[in-house]
Amino acid sequence: MADLSVQIGALRLRNPFIGASGCFGYGLEYTSAVDLSTIGGVAVKGLFLEERQGHAPPRIVETPAGMLNAIGLQGIGVHRFVAEKLPELRRLGATVIVNICGSTLDEYIEIARVLSDHEGVGAIELNISCPNIKEGGIQFGCSLHGTRDVVSGVRKVTRLPLIPKLTPNVTDVASFARASEEAGADAISLVNTFLAMAIDVETRQPKLTNVMGGLSGPAIRPIAVRMVWECFQAVKIPILGMGGIATIDDALEFIIAGSSAVQVGTANFVDPLIWPKLIRGLDDYMTRHNIARVADLVGSLQIPGKHS
Ligand SMILES: Cc1cc2nc3c(=O)[nH]c(=O)nc-3n(C[C@H](O)[C@H](O)[C@H](O)COP(=O)(O)O)c2cc1C
Repeated sequence: MADLSVQIGALRLRNPFIGASGCFGYGLEYTSAVDLSTIGGVAVKGLFLEERQGHAPPRIVETPAGMLNAIGLQGIGVHRFVAEKLPELRRLGATVIVNICGSTLDEYIEIARVLSDHEGVGAIELNISCPNIKEGGIQFGCSLHGTRDVVSGVRKVTRLPLIPKLTPNVTDVASFARASEEAGADAISLVNTFLAMAIDVETRQPKLTNVMGGLSGPAIRPIAVRMVWECFQAVKIPILGMGGIATIDDALEFIIAGSSAVQVGTANFVDPLIWPKLIRGLDDYMTRHNIARVADLVGSLQIPGKHS
């Protein structure tokens, strides 16, 4: 087996495959399907300071080649997470990326402080891109000032690697990548879901209680790949790409476009046994193409007529 490890700032991952936030629980729910010590990392469900119930159902709708969700960031809160989940994740050898959300800048800062006091947190993913909540989240991620404020504010209180997660619901995603880099991010992840809606034509009611939700899955993949490519040209920090990855070729598209690591979300609901297939698939590809390190593949897009 080739060396599949990748470096994300100070964080070393044993391979580039990470369970995406909100699609992989707190990691522990998936242990009957996957040995967490064999995958690159686990991005846990978004955490606020306090517990949250999220939105009333229905909050998930299937769509062609994807799904719409408006969970509304249901979660156990950071204090219960560090007490109840983190020790077990450590024991299982998982590399833990904690996805955090805030209604205010102070909330992001406070959660980051709590996490910095505990062993076993590999990195913080700053969710400034959730389309399904009223306060905070995407309001920070849709403004360059908001993005800078959250990243630089949290930067001041923690030495943990910081990974702002960008929203695709903006015109120029590369400028948000640049703002994140300038504010002190160690890496960026993208994309979160695309704001979308679905209607039941018989009742003329929205299919989601929240009316709008976030679209994920294979339907969004080509747009997400394009956004990763745009960001790769705009920043030097590593990119964690995601959006509709369901096969090794999908993951390779993201890596060749410029992702140092990739996250897999919606595919977990279809095939929770996907992980060894991705790992073996990458190993096969690297052997076939005589590539020694994953880093040599990152951003290796060949555009005919252009010389690298
Ligand atoms: C049901 C569901 C819940 C999600 N919850 C979160 C979350 O808590 N925090 C976050 O940053 N992203 C969340 N996401 C977004 C995913 O992490 C990912 O960015 C997006 O779904 C695109 O990847 P995919 O097409 O592989 O699912 C969620 C997505 C889904 C489908």
